[in-house]
Amino acid sequence: MKVLLFGGNGYMGREFRRLYPGAVAPSIDIADCNAVASALDQHRPDLVINAAGKTGRPNIDWCEDHKEETVRSNITGPLVLLDACTKRQIYWVHLGSGCVYQGDNGGKGFSEEDAPNFAGSFYSRTKAHCDEILREFPVLILRLRMPFDGSTHERSLITKLSKYKRVLDVQNSLTYLPDFFSAAAKLIESRKTGIYHVVNPGTLSPYHIMERYREFVDPAHTFEKLLPADLPEVVRAGRSNCVLDTKKLEQEGIELRPVESALLEACSTIAKERRIID
Ligand SMILES: NC(=O)c1ccc[n+]([C@@H]2O[C@H](COP(=O)([O-])OP(=O)(O)OC[C@H]3O[C@@H](n4cnc5c(N)ncnc54)[C@H](OP(=O)(O)O)[C@@H]3O)[C@@H](O)[C@H]2O)c1
Repeated sequence: MKVLLFGGNGYMGREFRRLYPGAVAPSIDIADCNAVASALDQHRPDLVINAAGKTGRPNIDWCEDHKEETVRSNITGPLVLLDACTKRQIYWVHLGSGCVYQGDNGGKGFSEEDAPNFAGSFYSRTKAHCDEILREFPVLILRLRMPFDGSTHERSLITKLSKYKRVLDVQNSLTYLPDFFSAAAKLIESRKTGIYHVVNPGTLSPYHIMERYREFVDPAHTFEKLLPADLPEVVRAGRSNCVLDTKKLEQEGIELRPVESALLEACSTIAKERRIID
């Protein structure tokens, strides 16, 4: 299978390269319709993966001050890919975010059919608007949340939280990347389309994650609880805290491991790496 990957140097893109080692990953702007058309015509892929997007550095607050760049990457680019792939009848995959929801939907979690209800950040608004268009077409949209793995990559949730002095104690759905990529491979293999919530069953709070981090990785790590009411003291844009429903994925026969055991595996991998380095 010939795979063309956009955003191949990012956190998700690098893992997609591991999943599809033969993938071609050109460094072109996905909002540049001529460059996208040339890449598709040159490589004639069976599968296009869009792992490009602006998530902001150091975090999504960046998007509040860089709205044009954020729209270009999170809305215009995917629409260019939609047009170019549709014309050529190429199957393609887009990365969405669960950060379009707030809350746990009365304990049920949000399903793929639920309309976004979180508009507290520009980043989340761009992701929600893009999904609302793409969902009308035969595109596979994989929604993930707060991704983490057993690496110390700056984008892994565990690394991010370990740098914060204060962390929230609010339950959230999360995505363990090894499980995400095994689910993505299965959905892609059977050419599924539409939105899928790809999160591990169960919920965790950032505070609990840091408790586990202290227990398994760094006993000297210190942190405090951040109350939701105090969040504006440390961030500019609002933050989504939400629970996603995973029934649609399970109905495909795809079950991710419970999120607590994913966290324990990630922490023990990080701890092993640290011992080797020390
Ligand atoms: N990480 C998360 O927490 C998370 C959660 C849910 C969903 N997602 C989604 O997953 C996707 C990938 O995120 P990520 O975490 O891998 O982000 P990332 O590490 O920032 O990687 C994104 C990559 O896309 C590139 N890019 C940005 N705009 C582009 C454009 N117009 N054309 C071509 N390449 C462009 C970036 O290059 P530059 O660095 O040069 O801009 C970067 O290499 C995004 O759609 C994001 O919304 C991420």
